[in-house]
Amino acid sequence: MDLTEITGKYILSEGLPYCQPVTRGHINDTMILKYADNDKFILQRINDKVFNAEQLMHNIMLVTEFIRHKAEERGGNPDKECLTIVKTKDGKPFVHTSDGYFRIYRYIEGVSYQAVEKEEDFYKCAQAFGSFANSLAEFDATQLFEVIPKFHDTEKRFRDFLSSLEKDVCGRAKDVQKEINFVLERKDYCNRITSLLHDGTIPVRCTHNDTKLNNVIFDEITGESLAVVDLDTVMPGSICYDFGDAIRFGCNTAKEDEIDLSVVHFDINLFRAFVKGYLSSIGNGITDIERKNLAFSAILMTYECGMRFLTDHLNGDKYFRITRENHNLDRARTQFKLIEEMEKILPEMEKIVEDNK
Ligand SMILES: Nc1ncnc2c1ncn2[C@@H]1O[C@H](COP(=O)(O)OP(=O)(O)OP(=O)(O)O)[C@@H](O)[C@H]1O
Ligand SMILES: [Mg+2]
Repeated sequence: MDLTEITGKYILSEGLPYCQPVTRGHINDTMILKYADNDKFILQRINDKVFNAEQLMHNIMLVTEFIRHKAEERGGNPDKECLTIVKTKDGKPFVHTSDGYFRIYRYIEGVSYQAVEKEEDFYKCAQAFGSFANSLAEFDATQLFEVIPKFHDTEKRFRDFLSSLEKDVCGRAKDVQKEINFVLERKDYCNRITSLLHDGTIPVRCTHNDTKLNNVIFDEITGESLAVVDLDTVMPGSICYDFGDAIRFGCNTAKEDEIDLSVVHFDINLFRAFVKGYLSSIGNGITDIERKNLAFSAILMTYECGMRFLTDHLNGDKYFRITRENHNLDRARTQFKLIEEMEKILPEMEKIVEDNK
């Protein structure tokens, strides 16, 4: 990548920047650009193999401008509370060179964490996603492109699963009957949220779709959460998906691909912390019916994810990268273990949500 070819398209700061790669991200190539006058920016290559870069930047422009406006209305600091796209000299939100698509954001001073170490951090992470949803409560999500079509269409995911099962291209189905039955027995989960969306019982909202701790920037000194980043997957959907996926990922006591299932548990204390943080900041960004479906959504998102891992195992590991034999099967099993635990305590999870409304 020719850095000056990219930065030359912008008016940033005087001189040449010092470049520091951010190695944490898996999807984008991310770099911090530091200038002599202390101005800092984030330069990212947009993954245009996975995404349509222009549609994705259209989505991010609309969402960041909306949040910015809301932050200004509240008397907040938009540069700290939300991503700010730096436009090129000719007003474009990205640069297209022979090396791909690139974008520049203002740098938000702070830190991000890979794993939950304290419950308090998870609570604050939830507050950040709650405020994100709150800021977007009145946003018209139908303006957004579906950058990954049917991402959380669980009914379609189920049909894909059945088709892979029928083809059984690697002959693996016979060895995973227990897991296959686990998915089949829960078929009725698939349309619970999609049907509410389709008949308008719950609104189509702008969802983040990657509600992980490492996509929140924290103030290093106060420890408070500042902003939500990584908006590549903002799309129309249900708010229940964002909540459910945050729980699926964040309340697992073990790694997503842990082989020893005896260490895989659903952590109800982390669930409580997330619910508290999320509902304390979401305000009018959620309706009663959406709220009543939050706890179930944690099961649904875990089911959908587990089903996708199992489907990929049946397909011969074509989608999720594997580094060992049965890797996707191991991943599916951790998800199914979490589901079994959540199913047993769903009434308790629902009560926690109700107690925090
Ligand atoms: N505007 C910003 N200001 C400060 N730090 C940022 C900014 N944007 C991104 N980062 C940092 O860079 C990291 C990677 O960015 P981002 O999440 O957009 O990339 P990614 O490749 O999609 O990552 P992942 O796959 O881990 O979600 C973030 O976790 C965050 O620490
Ligand atoms: Mg990220």
